[in-house]
Amino acid sequence: MGFTTGKERLRILRKANYNLFNIRAEHVLIDLLTDSGTGAMSAEQWSGIMRGDESYAGAKSYYTFEKAVRDLTGYREVIPVHQGRAAERILFSFNGGPGKISVSNSHFDTTRANAEASGTRVVDLPAKGALDFDVPEPFKGDIDTNALKKLITEKGPKSIAVCIMTVTNNSLGGQPVSMSNLKKVSSICRSSGIPLLLDCARFAENAYFIKIREKGYRSKTAAQIAKEMFSLADGCMMSAKKDALVNMGGFIALNNRKWALKARQILILGEGFPTYGGLAGRDLEAMAIGLREVLDEKYLQYRIRSTAYLGEGLLRHGVPIVRPPGGHAVYVNARKFLPHIPPGQFPAQTLICELYLEAGIRAVEIGTLMFGRKKPDGGFLPAPMELVRLAVPRRVYTQSHIDFVIEVFGKIAKRKNKMSGLKVVEAPEMLAHFTAKLKPL
Ligand code: F0G
Repeated sequence: MGFTTGKERLRILRKANYNLFNIRAEHVLIDLLTDSGTGAMSAEQWSGIMRGDESYAGAKSYYTFEKAVRDLTGYREVIPVHQGRAAERILFSFNGGPGKISVSNSHFDTTRANAEASGTRVVDLPAKGALDFDVPEPFKGDIDTNALKKLITEKGPKSIAVCIMTVTNNSLGGQPVSMSNLKKVSSICRSSGIPLLLDCARFAENAYFIKIREKGYRSKTAAQIAKEMFSLADGCMMSAKKDALVNMGGFIALNNRKWALKARQILILGEGFPTYGGLAGRDLEAMAIGLREVLDEKYLQYRIRSTAYLGEGLLRHGVPIVRPPGGHAVYVNARKFLPHIPPGQFPAQTLICELYLEAGIRAVEIGTLMFGRKKPDGGFLPAPMELVRLAVPRRVYTQSHIDFVIEVFGKIAKRKNKMSGLKVVEAPEMLAHFTAKLKPL
């Protein structure tokens, strides 16, 4: 955490070309860039690190980890990888390819990129209303099951390589998927022979939302609900940097032995031997413990409440957000907050620069800088949304940090009409938002 003056921040931001990815973390006071790998491990996890067995093959730590994943998911085949995107790359390298489709409530960016890199076409079918940010429906992470059935009828089940349910749905507001939706998807996929996987980076947050929002789940534990979610799918891919409460890690878990065999072959090529898969033995210990700790309902209650608290604070200052607040993040609707800044002048990027200038807070743009596209005719296609994601790291910040973020938004809201946009000076063709250089207009 770093304290800086306003003058210093202006100099730092200019030097970073108005791109917050280029700022040193030591120059950030409150870092809401991501909730991925930024959580604090518990004393128990740190002691697990000390017990790590670093044997190349058959380490004790692997079996501890395997048991934790089997207990959680019920899947037999457990394959560790170094992070979520490695799982995606492995999956699409044996299951996918030209002519195949991957369908989802929404693919996360890296999932989409890995699918497309393999030649697989991706189709997102978010529930109706998911893009209606002002309407606070309880399960805006659902997939549109009618559209899913239509896609299967039109393209034929054989052309669909996989259906991926992202829980919670990170790309559209961190919104949860209901159990009833998962049940419907499961039955559609099973009757058509389409494999169903969970992208379960935030499975515990999703399970807790089901507990408090869906009829019939109040008296079930988060662990029971999670198990039921996993039982409806054929396997999962996980970025453990989120709900396994570790700084690095991930896994694939499956019941299909043939798939597991193929996955392990590719694993050896790029990640490592199947009992460590790109990680150290100590990392496996920490993941095993994190997967249990995250289902502590006192923790989950605090987690979901504190994100909601941030959202409520912003709404009090008239800052429009994606409603209701998500599990891991609050998403500010910058298009609505700064209507005088057109998408081509990057309203969400403008807002994150203002947050940094005002108080050293770092957030991420999910808008035209990230998703805008050049059209073949030379024109420009803006993104369908202009959002600022305020992702809350796990077990790191306190209520007073969050109060400070709310206070800063209050100040910015008062002078928002005076803010003006940005223009791109230099940007690569792919994943421009990481390295683009910008300038105030
Ligand atoms: N799936 C989801 C839903 C994710 O949110 C992420 C990462 C991944 C897969 C990829 O996992 O980073 O371990 O390779 N999300 C981070 C974020 C980067 O900031 O939302 P990874």
